[in-house]
Amino acid sequence: MTFDDVKRRGLVMLGCGKMGGAMLEGWLARDLPPASVHVIDPHPAAWLTDRGVQTNGRLPDDPAVALVAVKPQMMADALPQLAPFGGGRTLVISVAAGTPISYFEQVLGPGTRVIRAMPNTPAAIGKGITAIFGNAATTDADMALADSLLQAIGQVVRLQTEDQIDAVTGVSGSGPAYVFYMIDALAAAAQAEGLPDDMAMQLAKATVAGAGALAEATDDTPEQLRINVTSPNGTTQAGLAVLMDADGGLGPLMRRTVAAAAGRSRELKGSA
Ligand SMILES: NC(=O)c1ccc[n+]([C@@H]2O[C@H](COP(=O)([O-])OP(=O)(O)OC[C@H]3O[C@@H](n4cnc5c(N)ncnc54)[C@H](OP(=O)(O)O)[C@@H]3O)[C@@H](O)[C@H]2O)c1
Repeated sequence: MTFDDVKRRGLVMLGCGKMGGAMLEGWLARDLPPASVHVIDPHPAAWLTDRGVQTNGRLPDDPAVALVAVKPQMMADALPQLAPFGGGRTLVISVAAGTPISYFEQVLGPGTRVIRAMPNTPAAIGKGITAIFGNAATTDADMALADSLLQAIGQVVRLQTEDQIDAVTGVSGSGPAYVFYMIDALAAAAQAEGLPDDMAMQLAKATVAGAGALAEATDDTPEQLRINVTSPNGTTQAGLAVLMDADGGLGPLMRRTVAAAAGRSRELKGSA
């Protein structure tokens, strides 16, 4: 299964809101013909028809891929619409948080090739990271195709077990919110040191964005980058002495933060 199969046999999208739309924009930019995309969505966005994507029309008989991008609470209503594509010929890729692979197998039938993916919100600007896991029916070629399709919204990592999705949810899924809060906290600290509000926010955003970009761009580890800017008895060392406190510092706080989010993900799965 390759991108050419998707062009030829078509792609069905169940739900095309924020996440589905971000993915579709990436694929159209990579020359997926709009006519091969078929969106099922009760209120399709206007740009879809403007770009030549088919919305709520006749579906292909044998699409290569069906992407599930509805909210988990809509899943029970929405998923049966993909029933004709169950059983193995169509590769089903779901980005829905919290819906396990077993649910897709149950609704779409045994033998259905299902890949579960967990993206995050920077996907909206092509800077997301998505973790994927495929069921036993998926092939290496399916995983490679999902990998390349999801690269339209950023980086992709492959999981060894479906359970790891809970940890991924606690790290990269919820992680953008932690970083947004870190920006706010840094800006508030800048204001407390007497800087004007706008400048405080500009300094905080640029510092987080710039440090993140530098950490990704260089071969140095984040630890080495930190050591590089920490001179003995200097200002950075004074700040890090607080931030890196073994008991009350960021390390144990981040550990508790991620554990709480991953734990909640496990709880929600239990109540699904
Ligand atoms: N946004 C993220 O950053 C993010 C991150 C990780 C995972 N996800 C997952 O991505 C999925 C989609 O999230 P989203 O943020 O893109 O939500 P969204 O913007 O609300 O998009 C969902 C779309 O599905 C449509 N829909 C509702 N009922 C439907 C049905 N019965 N059949 C077909 N389409 C239907 C909705 O239409 P209406 O608006 O008319 O209801 C909407 O256009 C979720 O499962 C979420 O867990 C999102």
